Amino acid sequence: MEEFCKSLPKVELHAHINGSVSEATIQKLLAKKKNSDQQFSFKKGSTGTLKECFEKFRLIHQLTDNTESVYQVTCDVIHEFHDDNVKYLELRSTPRAVQDTGMSRESYVESVLRAIQDCGDLDIIVRFLLAIDRRNGVKVGWETLRLAQKFQKSHGDLVVGMDLSGDPSVGDARDYLPVFREAQKSGLKLALHLCEIPAPEETMEMLTLPPDRIGHGTFLHTEAGGNQQFENTVLKNRTPLELCLTSNLIGQTVPNLDNHQFKFWYEKEHPCVICTDDKGVFSTSMSEEYQLAASTFDLKQRDLWNLSEQSINYTFCEENVKEKLRDQFKVYKSKMEEQFNIKL
Ligand code: IMP
Ligand code: ZN
Repeated sequence: MEEFCKSLPKVELHAHINGSVSEATIQKLLAKKKNSDQQFSFKKGSTGTLKECFEKFRLIHQLTDNTESVYQVTCDVIHEFHDDNVKYLELRSTPRAVQDTGMSRESYVESVLRAIQDCGDLDIIVRFLLAIDRRNGVKVGWETLRLAQKFQKSHGDLVVGMDLSGDPSVGDARDYLPVFREAQKSGLKLALHLCEIPAPEETMEMLTLPPDRIGHGTFLHTEAGGNQQFENTVLKNRTPLELCLTSNLIGQTVPNLDNHQFKFWYEKEHPCVICTDDKGVFSTSMSEEYQLAASTFDLKQRDLWNLSEQSINYTFCEENVKEKLRDQFKVYKSKMEEQFNIKL
């Protein structure tokens, strides 16, 4: 299965740039920072709770406090996903301003987009979502939307949507509803972290937008303490769920993988997309996430193929790009069938 998952062409739709930074890149960034005695370890199991994950993001952000580092990290992350046979990648990141280094939210986004363009020769299609961190307040939310609209005009092929993320125990997602409504009107797609922890009050209203995809959705369904209305709404809208097994396990939002929400939605034939979330912080890769899904939920090679290929339907890119990907996947399919002597 390991070889199969590595060879499988994959679609990654939920990857936070700073959470995806590898240890190798961290070492490069540390070498550039004088007087830094920071210690980093992304070994599996080295993080205990969601709170501890957010502490790691804080440390990483200290290293990516300038446009050069943001550019470097984005390039490295794209190369790493490429090397893992990811053929389509949607990156998301929170535009950050750092006064000391002169980085503005705008120059942050410029650096990300420049990195994406400079990786244009690689056999991987990359798109970008601007993230709103729910800890930063609505004013910054509006600012982020304005930036998204601006870059949508100048880089419309690359900027495809917005994300809502950040510590789910802080703030109220409903405060950002007007921002997301306007984003929708501008033609930006919405991928929102919802119900990563139980959050019944905010969830119902956020579902009315409705989001184009949901990140995690751990506590949406009744079995997990959500409610029938959430379940019905998500099923009726067929809102794809971005599911990140290792992330939820390490962040301890699920007690074990057997009880992961993947099982519930997958058995209902609901659109499910396997993603990494933060491959650096959680020390994982897309190939490993597919392997984990296979071993936990007893998925066969053909099931994995279908999961990956169907993910194309849930991307935020233009229809002609989806078509191109589908054509590419047809070619990969025959190659995989030959390589693994199997009918997919
Ligand atoms: P960045 O947006 O590129 O700086 O990536 C790191 C940021 O992504 C964190 O500071 C969080 O705001 C967000 N993030 C990463 N993983 C999660 C998660 O599991 N839940 C909520 N937010 C997350
Ligand atoms: Zn996430």
